[in-house]
Amino acid sequence: MTDIIQRKQDHIELALDAGSQILSQGRQLKDYRLPHRALPEVNLADVKTELRVFEKTLKAPFFIASMTGGLAEGAKINRHLAEAAQELGLAMGLGSQRVTLEHPETLSSFQVRDVAPDILLLANLGAVQLNLGYGPKACREVVESVGADGLYLHLNSLQEAVQAGGDTAFAGLAARIAQVVKELDFPVLVKECGNGLDAKSARRLRDSGVQGLEVSGHGGTSWGWIEAQRHPDARLKRLGQTFAQWGVPTPQAIQQCRKAWPNSFLIASGGVRSGLDAAVAIALGADAVSIAQPLLKPALESTQAVIDELQIWLAEFRIAMFCAGAKDLRALAALDLN
Ligand code: FNR
Repeated sequence: MTDIIQRKQDHIELALDAGSQILSQGRQLKDYRLPHRALPEVNLADVKTELRVFEKTLKAPFFIASMTGGLAEGAKINRHLAEAAQELGLAMGLGSQRVTLEHPETLSSFQVRDVAPDILLLANLGAVQLNLGYGPKACREVVESVGADGLYLHLNSLQEAVQAGGDTAFAGLAARIAQVVKELDFPVLVKECGNGLDAKSARRLRDSGVQGLEVSGHGGTSWGWIEAQRHPDARLKRLGQTFAQWGVPTPQAIQQCRKAWPNSFLIASGGVRSGLDAAVAIALGADAVSIAQPLLKPALESTQAVIDELQIWLAEFRIAMFCAGAKDLRALAALDLN
């Protein structure tokens, strides 16, 4: 097994460990309350959750987050997630596809269009790779090879810094992203991976041609913790542990990015753990949410297990909107939280 595939396998195993879910020291989504309306003046059945984005209509503003691919287990996970997304009318991101550029034999583990012909599907590549030789051609290849509608470029400076041989050449990356994105004719979104997008970075991306941001803040899966567990080397273990709490907590990241780039398409992720958290994230300023770790275990099991889990989230989301008197997403976004 190559290093990159072994790493993906380690990430799945470690993310399933409860220790990877480190609560941030900051205020989390669950610490906010939506207003209760005893007279919501809307029928539960009439609450509208549809979201139109990138020329597709989602039945609810939920993305299944980028996670994996590239190994037998990754193929199974992607297939189960994609089938569930198709059934429920949700969007999905694939895990980092650099492995497919270097090991083309892994491509089939990312190909889900046969089971999910209609979903909004986003390909995925590490943004730092644009500083290390990849450019528009690689971006087009990862999108076209899986029939995706667009591309996520992920930022993971902390994870790379605490990893043996991580890619840490981040100088000039905002300008490089802008240069590459100008040559692409599909939507590109930039996401973090659990340490959060901050206001300054969001402002740097505002005029880059990027069409969306996913905050992936601190409070869910901790990559400092995960990388610390992977290293037999005591020095790297220490580094990962020291930074297990590092990053912008998700609620702050949502509010900062919304303020820094008011009309961006903004996805909340990092510790979204229920449909109620999702409703809070939207009231805080996000347009949609993205869910990673909670779907990993069901995705290893079956498509039906993913559907069953997400149906609970969808019910929670509708109930939150109903009881707060929000008949649609616009009304939810306008609510004041406390
Ligand atoms: C991830 N994440 C991720 N992100 C990305 O852009 N490319 C990737 O390849 C991966 N790989 C990956 C593997 C596993 C096992 C997990 C759990 C996550 C990060 C993910 O998309 C998300 O940003 C964070 O996990 C935060 O969300 P949660 O887990 O707190 O819901």
